[in-house]
Amino acid sequence: MFVSVHHEIHDQELFSEKVSRMPPAPDTMCRHQFVTALDHTEAACLWEVHSIDELRSYIDPALEPSSTQRYFQVFEEQAVGLPGSQLPAHRSSKNGSAAPETSRAALDPDRLQDFLNRFGADQAAAMHAATVVIGDKLGLYKAMFELGAATAEELAETTGCHPRLVREWANAQVASAYCQYDATQQRYWLTAEQAACLADPESPTFVVGGALVVNSVHQDAERVMAAFTAGGGLDWGEHHPDLFEGTRRFFEPAYRANLVEHWIPALDGMQERLEAGAHAADIGCGHGAALILLAQAFPKSTFVGYDAHAESVEAARKLAAEAAVDNRVSFETATASDFPGRGFDLICVFNALHEWGDPVSAARIIRHALAPDGIWMFTEPRTDDELVTSVRARTFYSVSTFVCTPSALSQDGPEALGAQAGQDALRRVVTEAGFTRFRRAAETPTFMVLEARP
Ligand SMILES: C[S@@+](CC[C@H](N)C(=O)[O-])C[C@H]1O[C@@H](n2cnc3c(N)ncnc32)[C@H](O)[C@@H]1O
Repeated sequence: MFVSVHHEIHDQELFSEKVSRMPPAPDTMCRHQFVTALDHTEAACLWEVHSIDELRSYIDPALEPSSTQRYFQVFEEQAVGLPGSQLPAHRSSKNGSAAPETSRAALDPDRLQDFLNRFGADQAAAMHAATVVIGDKLGLYKAMFELGAATAEELAETTGCHPRLVREWANAQVASAYCQYDATQQRYWLTAEQAACLADPESPTFVVGGALVVNSVHQDAERVMAAFTAGGGLDWGEHHPDLFEGTRRFFEPAYRANLVEHWIPALDGMQERLEAGAHAADIGCGHGAALILLAQAFPKSTFVGYDAHAESVEAARKLAAEAAVDNRVSFETATASDFPGRGFDLICVFNALHEWGDPVSAARIIRHALAPDGIWMFTEPRTDDELVTSVRARTFYSVSTFVCTPSALSQDGPEALGAQAGQDALRRVVTEAGFTRFRRAAETPTFMVLEARP
């Protein structure tokens, strides 16, 4: 068998003899010794005639991954490099066969290294996200911004934190390029760009809300796992509280940058109506960030926000009072299926439709709640044309696994759209609900703004 493929192997008998002396599979240490004694040609033969699982069993599991990888690299290089060699059957999918490559295919060392590099970077980012939450909650970024170049001790004193831990935290920020560092003076500071993303909640590029959402999903892993194995549902309100504040702070910068300046003007005649005095609602309003911005921009209009989560409604009321718009903005606990009020000029749904268990029924209720010439504006995360590896898809499919899809499933409706439903699925919802006009009115790299009219 070996000869037919590798006719240049001269000492076939010796190799066969070696193979016959190979210890049984569980004895990985002996197998490891066997493998290390092989020359390249013999390694190639081994690669050729054994499945990848068998090859794996020849390698000492106690070895560092990089050493294991080097063995596979030797196997592969020798198999490919021998004159007249054919790739073994278990590698054929790499060479264009229709069969999809699976985890049973041979390891490609370069791709393995790429994946390890990718995982290492992700692991560092996930670890670092926890320091972002601490930096935000303890006011460390704010202090770094306000103090300018500061030592760890100065940061600690300003924030009332332990100096040794602050130094470790600050070094983690340097290691992630989240702040600058002068080693001679041991001082840390934020560039204008870092401050705009980490220290200024009013900035349109403030990103810290995302880290709070990350924190919440990690805290909720047990609950979500329970949902995976029992019914699928997890109500929005059952999540860690960082989700609620994190969601507001994650979305608010985009609303601040776009809602009044770009999205409302993109709707047919709506800006003029709001300026003259209109009545608008926000369903699934959360902490009410978008509605408060609208109320600030259009002082002649009145607004009401509805959300199924009573705690969020409370928080929204408080924020409206702080923004001094609570005389024209009210918030009520109600679901998309039972919110009261009719004749709205504008109904908004900001990144919430895909959380609902019966989006078609909700859309139908929204249609009935609109004035005849009213507009339903809703935003949803943008999607890629196909299921691809992209930062956006990664972010939204992951959060959808933890939050959006379990939320919809908890509502016992007919479907769970998920946060990457895409415009075609949303068009279907809108059309089934009886709207006659539907278009994408605006977009950002992250969101699409959709307009539906009765
Ligand atoms: C992703 S958050 C968006 C919050 C807010 N619109 C924003 O942009 O900040 C989704 C919101 O939908 C609410 N929600 C979920 N199911 C709902 C339902 N059936 N009716 C009303 N609100 C619902 C949740 O309580 C949550 O506040």
